[in-house]
Amino acid sequence: MAVERLRNKPCGGRYGNIVQSIGNTPLVELPGLSPKPGVHVWAKLEARNPTGSVKDRVARALIEDAEERGALAPGARVLEPTSGNTGIALAMLCSCKGYDLTVVMPENVTAERTSLLDMYGAKIVYSEAAKGSNGSVEKALEMAESDPSWYMPYQYGNPANPGAHYNGTAVEILEQLDDVAAFVAGLGTGGTLMGCGRRLKETFGDAVKIVAAEPMPGEPVQGLRSLDDGFIPPIIDLSVLDRKIFVTNEDAIVFTRKLLREEGLFVGPSSGAVARVAVRIADELDEGNVVFMVADDGSKYLSSGIYSRPMEDLGDIDSTVWW
Ligand SMILES: Cc1ncc(COP(=O)(O)O)c(C=O)c1O
Repeated sequence: MAVERLRNKPCGGRYGNIVQSIGNTPLVELPGLSPKPGVHVWAKLEARNPTGSVKDRVARALIEDAEERGALAPGARVLEPTSGNTGIALAMLCSCKGYDLTVVMPENVTAERTSLLDMYGAKIVYSEAAKGSNGSVEKALEMAESDPSWYMPYQYGNPANPGAHYNGTAVEILEQLDDVAAFVAGLGTGGTLMGCGRRLKETFGDAVKIVAAEPMPGEPVQGLRSLDDGFIPPIIDLSVLDRKIFVTNEDAIVFTRKLLREEGLFVGPSSGAVARVAVRIADELDEGNVVFMVADDGSKYLSSGIYSRPMEDLGDIDSTVWW
């Protein structure tokens, strides 16, 4: 009986290689966050992917879509503007599949990000720090236009990005739950909210609410984009969203710590923000399942001190975006 209790249920699966193992992430109930007996709050744990984030799904979809269309021959050169999880995921995918990857990112990104990309053999081109991630997008687009031998997946405009969630994340959630009253995620490129939102709406119609967690204007939260920052990625269709709810950076950190200390989940700060919104939605419901996304784990944010430093000392944390 003891052995039975220790066994993973259901089993995590068996795969021919690491790329095939992407996805199939656990959905874990967090009873401590559920305000009343009929309301259940669930976390979709994307940090269980091979490089530790939801972007493994997207990187696989972007690369395999290009392969299927014949846009990527063996040994091809791939170029993408990203300072975060997508770059790391693409670096792993490209190294496994034999493509040469170059990422464009702002010159002031942290040493942790550079090392993670280096580790998988990606090359890095820096863009002007002052222009942030929008500057990296601009530079990568210029490079791709001037040299047709680059293949740029461009996650901000590529339907394969929401497709990874429409055909993957959302399908898993539908296997894991019979009903979903609300789905909450942060917005980076918009891929998660668009792909999951569309599939869940097709299944449950208006009974499911698709909710974006947004950083408070002027208070960036790592990993979250504001729709008012001047760039709406082409893959975003605002009509898929029912609501967007603001979260302060302080609330994001408070909830990141709460998930760590009370629920045993070591998550990145955007997941704290998303959990904050999920709890607010759960408070408004009388019954139903609220699913929220944990996009990544906390290992890349450790040096910022958000897990341990006194709240009043956190004014200087690096809030550069991380997609
Ligand atoms: C770290 C991180 N990566 C990715 C995402 C989701 O991004 P996208 O909108 O590109 O699917 C989020 C959203 O919260 C995030 O925090």
